[in-house]
Amino acid sequence: MKKNYNQISELADFDAKNVELAGWLYNSRSSGKVLFLVLRDGTGLCQCIVEKGKLSDELFEQLKHLGQESSLTVTGIVRKEPRSVGGYELLVNDAKVLCSTKDYPITPKSHGIEFLMKNRHLYLRSQKPWCIAKIRHTVIDAIRTFFNDNGFTLIDTPIFTAMAGEDELSLFEVDYFGRPVKLTQTGQLHLETAAMSFGKVYCFGPTFRAEKSKTRRHLTEFWMVEPEVAFLELDGLLELAENFVSFVVQRVLEKNTEQLEALNADVESLKKITPPFNRLTYTDAVDILTGPTARDFLAKQLDQLQTESKNIKSRSKELTEQQKGQLKKWKKEKIDSELIELHSQLEEIQTKIDNNPKHAKLASEFRWGKDLGGSDETIISNLYEKPVFVTHYPKQAKAFYMKVDRQNQKVVQNFDMLAPAGFGEIIGGSVREDDFDMLLKNMNEKCLKQENYGWYMDIRKYGSVPHGGFGLGVERTVAWLTGEKHIRQCIAFPRMMDNIYI
Ligand code: 4AD
Repeated sequence: MKKNYNQISELADFDAKNVELAGWLYNSRSSGKVLFLVLRDGTGLCQCIVEKGKLSDELFEQLKHLGQESSLTVTGIVRKEPRSVGGYELLVNDAKVLCSTKDYPITPKSHGIEFLMKNRHLYLRSQKPWCIAKIRHTVIDAIRTFFNDNGFTLIDTPIFTAMAGEDELSLFEVDYFGRPVKLTQTGQLHLETAAMSFGKVYCFGPTFRAEKSKTRRHLTEFWMVEPEVAFLELDGLLELAENFVSFVVQRVLEKNTEQLEALNADVESLKKITPPFNRLTYTDAVDILTGPTARDFLAKQLDQLQTESKNIKSRSKELTEQQKGQLKKWKKEKIDSELIELHSQLEEIQTKIDNNPKHAKLASEFRWGKDLGGSDETIISNLYEKPVFVTHYPKQAKAFYMKVDRQNQKVVQNFDMLAPAGFGEIIGGSVREDDFDMLLKNMNEKCLKQENYGWYMDIRKYGSVPHGGFGLGVERTVAWLTGEKHIRQCIAFPRMMDNIYI
């Protein structure tokens, strides 16, 4: 088979020239003597126009009856057509069918998300997952570029580990030649040792958490990038994090405008993501949650949700009425699609309406000392247009390695970065406890066995220095940027408590 087919993404360079494309049939319609075939080749979509008489009758008939996702090659002249998908179309003069397909399960009409995720292996070909994956690709490329260009050395940390990096409750245990070991929750502890060798390091890889959580924010396997820097205090860490996230957002805006628009992402809000970000202590956050700010916000939100729900219900009623009349097939399918979409929006709004009083109760009853939960983060991040750092959490709610604030020993020098408009946490980080005795005290308080952490303690024995770092979750970041509600759409093959089929 010929190797060098032209690509749809490059058609602008071939205006009025003859090209050959190879791809899959995304959609087709016919108006008697003309076929409109939308071809998908992995780089974009292109409408291919086939006129009867320009190729053999036999081939014309074959193309006319091709099912969605059939594979084929087409040859033709490129024509600029701003109204057409991608801005260019192809006037076909030849074609070859490679695999004629029947009954492709994912049709252009709307399907429920459960069905689509069960067919993830095929769903990856649809526009929405394609756009999200393209943005994820840019995010990962930008992450590497940022750290590589800022003097960081990549250190690959292990996936099998002998100890807990975060909390003992969310560890996956595996049999390692008869010995139980864990799948890593974080590369941080190993990375701290490497920071003492290189100064600035980062690791980037899959991370595992056995949290029995089915929320939109949790995967059991997710990708995390973690920088770690020697001779750094909390202020420097926050600056690094805001410059880093701003850089990633900027790259996505530069490279993925089309995909962001196709996904209906909030591009204007993303343009505002520049340093400095907002800064708030945990204690300020508690005041917000338990005071009038959260109460007023939630009351306003409930009003808005109820209005939205009313509008959706009346639109659904209107469409259902229309359906009763005599309709052309395409019109009926269009209405069916819209109804499915409205139904899913309504379900989502109803969940938010049901949750609103629960979240209000949780917020008003929040007491200093607890970790912030998902609903608390949603409330706080809804109050800001840019990401917000929440710093200085209570020591009792956080991991053993976080450095106790020397001015107020009840809190640690840590932060979470909450993405704005209600999205919530995308980064967790801290300055690390660099004093041997303080670290030992923390470990004893958390009942961790010192003998498991011998090498980790050595960093505090031999040339200990202030240092810190953070971890950014790739899927959560992609979900925030794309406006996707559930992070399962932000990785090709998501791993969740109840999903490991594909
Ligand atoms: O806040 P976390 O648990 O921090 C750490 O693991 C630190 N050791 C990182 C460090 O300081 N080097 O996780 C960091 C980020 C979260 O903010 C979130 O974006 C993501 O990892 N994350 C998850 N993403 C998807 N599913 C889960 N179950 C996640 N748990 C954490």
